[in-house]
Amino acid sequence: MKNEKNWETWNDDKLHAFQEDFIVWYEQEKRNLPWRVNLDPYRIWISEIMLQQTRVDTVIDYYYRFMEWFPTIQDLADAPEDKLLKAWEGLGYYSRARNLKVAAQQIVTDFNGQMPNSIDEIRQLKGIGPYTAGAIGSIAFNLPEPAVDGNVMRVVSRLFEIDADIAKAGSRKVFEEAMYKIIDQKRPGDFNQAMMDLGSAICTPTSPKCEECPIQSYCLSYEKNTMTNFPVKSKKLKPKDVYYIGGIMENKQQEFLLEKRDSKGLLANMWLFPIEEVSKERFEFLQKTWVKEEQQLTLDFEEPLLVAEENSEIFEGYTNVVWQKRSLGEVTHIFSHLKWHILVFYGRQTGLIEQKNNQNWAMKEDFSNYVFPKPQQKMVELYKQDFKTEK
Ligand code: ADE
Repeated sequence: MKNEKNWETWNDDKLHAFQEDFIVWYEQEKRNLPWRVNLDPYRIWISEIMLQQTRVDTVIDYYYRFMEWFPTIQDLADAPEDKLLKAWEGLGYYSRARNLKVAAQQIVTDFNGQMPNSIDEIRQLKGIGPYTAGAIGSIAFNLPEPAVDGNVMRVVSRLFEIDADIAKAGSRKVFEEAMYKIIDQKRPGDFNQAMMDLGSAICTPTSPKCEECPIQSYCLSYEKNTMTNFPVKSKKLKPKDVYYIGGIMENKQQEFLLEKRDSKGLLANMWLFPIEEVSKERFEFLQKTWVKEEQQLTLDFEEPLLVAEENSEIFEGYTNVVWQKRSLGEVTHIFSHLKWHILVFYGRQTGLIEQKNNQNWAMKEDFSNYVFPKPQQKMVELYKQDFKTEK
């Protein structure tokens, strides 16, 4: 049925019975999570930002460390960029970390160091959109505000057979409207978190466990057996493929060449082995022609090199490097709109490599002092597999 607002058919008795059943279930089943131990708005804010694009299981360790490194809003406002990125290393969407710091500075200057407690003010903070504002407002300040994320849209779309396309930004309003109607005014934070827990444990995308669901008897799509028709979600555009070659270059001192990215754009200020964008054709050519040789360099740098063919330069701009004549393999990594493919090569310095301003030679043991994004961590793994190093 198109555009029916089925929540409008609920009377007060049904609404209260529903809220009661749902909150009782939450009380019994709620997950023990570190940001649920108290209602400190700062802790809740950090957890909600981390949880925006990342699974609960992954977030937990990052969360503990972040709180240890930046225990107060003031600490976050003063955080050195390197340390902040280090705390976020591997979590992805690094603008989240940068925005946190800007918002912490806003709180210090505009709100006297205290997290603001109205939805409008919370919304003014950098990096906080409707979801996060609703989550902080309801959990930390008991404001009856919905926090609509993908999980909540799935649950609510099934509950009321809402067929708004959740891939469209405009659909959020419909789900918010339904949530305003059903949210428990006395315990909005628990209500929102019950939605999140239900969405992740029971009302799952492909095979929801309806037999275990505490609100099964209220659910329209359960009644009609249409659960798997909801939510309606149009296909996202495929991320654009981008091709790179990556060069792991080592010198006689067993140092590796690292390059810092620009201060603007994707993976700003983070460190990677030098990578160079190539055409798809060149990538596929290298993939085919540089893979079959058994040639294997040993760990011993002084072993005679089995040198690749003359003129077999892989990277433009890197002469005085001898490349192992097969790739170490491929790394792929999806950012929201881009898919990186990196074909990784290993090479050894044979003469002077001109070092750019944004490059450093670093020992493996010192890699932990650099902030490595996921694709770089994957390149390091390929290297370790190839050379079976112990670390
Ligand atoms: N996902 C997003 N926010 C959450 C929270 N507060 N608890 C559990 N999962 C979440």
